[in-house]
Amino acid sequence: MLDQASNFTKIREEDISFFSELLHDRCKHDKENLEKYSHDETEDLIFYPAIVLIPINTDEISKILRYCNEHHIPVTPAGARTGLSGGALPIFGGVLLSTEKLNKIIAIDEENHQVTTEPGVITQDLQNAVKAKGLFYPPDPASRGSCFIGGNVAENSGGPKAVKYGVTNEYVLNLEIVLADGSIIWTGANVIKNATGYNLTQLIVGSEGTLGIVSKIVLKLRTHPTHDMLMLVPFFDASDACKAVSEIFRAGIVPSGLEFMENDALRLAQNFTQDYSISVTKNHEAHLLVEVDGFDPEKLMEECEQILSVLEKFETDEILFADSEAQKQTLWNLRRKVGEAVKAFSTYKEEDTVVPRYHLPDLLEHVKKIGAKYGFDSVCYGHAGDGNLHVNILKGELSASKWNKELPNAIKELFIEVVKLGGTISGEHGIGLVQKPYMPIAFPEVTLQLMRSIKSSFDPNGILNPGKIF
Ligand code: LAC
Ligand code: ZN
Repeated sequence: MLDQASNFTKIREEDISFFSELLHDRCKHDKENLEKYSHDETEDLIFYPAIVLIPINTDEISKILRYCNEHHIPVTPAGARTGLSGGALPIFGGVLLSTEKLNKIIAIDEENHQVTTEPGVITQDLQNAVKAKGLFYPPDPASRGSCFIGGNVAENSGGPKAVKYGVTNEYVLNLEIVLADGSIIWTGANVIKNATGYNLTQLIVGSEGTLGIVSKIVLKLRTHPTHDMLMLVPFFDASDACKAVSEIFRAGIVPSGLEFMENDALRLAQNFTQDYSISVTKNHEAHLLVEVDGFDPEKLMEECEQILSVLEKFETDEILFADSEAQKQTLWNLRRKVGEAVKAFSTYKEEDTVVPRYHLPDLLEHVKKIGAKYGFDSVCYGHAGDGNLHVNILKGELSASKWNKELPNAIKELFIEVVKLGGTISGEHGIGLVQKPYMPIAFPEVTLQLMRSIKSSFDPNGILNPGKIF
């Protein structure tokens, strides 16, 4: 990391003058602002930028990047800073480029079921705007009420609906990006099929701001489903809950949400939200939250019955069917708050493991075995239908030395097992800073080298979000 730092120039008075002239009061370097932009939602990590720049259009981004590229100033793009892998942390100081004022939905194209938006729009606002026209943008990370669509593109975010509707990349048709040297390009076309050259659009999705800065996004939309049904299924045995997941799909049902929560995950969310309206007892090791959606209530009822007949094979307790919109909200709110609840409860590390869904029971078993070996507790929850388990490792009573020195070995062991199961080390939170050391578990050197050479053809001076991914 230090080697790379020596390639960069420290911000000088003349740089500040250039940026101030360009952006006026949207160029900030007072203590309060540097503090504000020094963290995202990743653990308790803090890195101060030297300066915060808040452009309002593509042209300003272009001018900023051209200048930074010429002067070897690192640029860390940031959205709402809700990320969990440290992607928006300015680890080499330099410029923090915030997209918060690129916050307009440019056009909703009802004829073609598309929306063109700037990156700083809050995901849920975008969803509501298209829903008002009967349209549906499904990817819905837990942070959808505060995260930006640009951040979702950068991290290829998922969320509960991904199990039926896919993650962000399946909706991105075309991107306007600003390259490191300030050039402005569109990566593709506003079409749902495209066999024209390399797929730069999909290369940019999930590239965590290391290849270019996304300034406009064209997304595909669907027709909004009109009905949904939601049930909470308590299992006495967490492994059974995991086993039931692939059985549901094998019965021919594709739920629009299939979430797993260990008992502690649900209890922590209850304590955090102070909402105890759902009864959770100690003997329920885990719950599945299962949603089906569509346009025909009778068909949904049939799907629920099919799910119930799959569940009969397992020992479950009384299943709760949400009987009102308010109860659905309660259940989803508890699920969405698990991450924040764990964070408020203990120092923790979050892993974003993903395996083919049939191997979910094996994954959970490995987590618990490795936890027992290294002496840590974990709270597991996540998008079971995607085989995506968020493993929150709690510091609890562990000594600082165990936490800092031994835990990375435990995580390494876990990731090795994940890869053996055919999975990988991040399903939807990205690599960013905190998962970077584990990339050689996911890929051999030859693949990493290929990725590094893509990075250097986009960004020869390495100014864009340096120190991330590899
Ligand atoms: C969730 C976030 C942490 O699923 O991805 O709650
Ligand atoms: Zn998640």
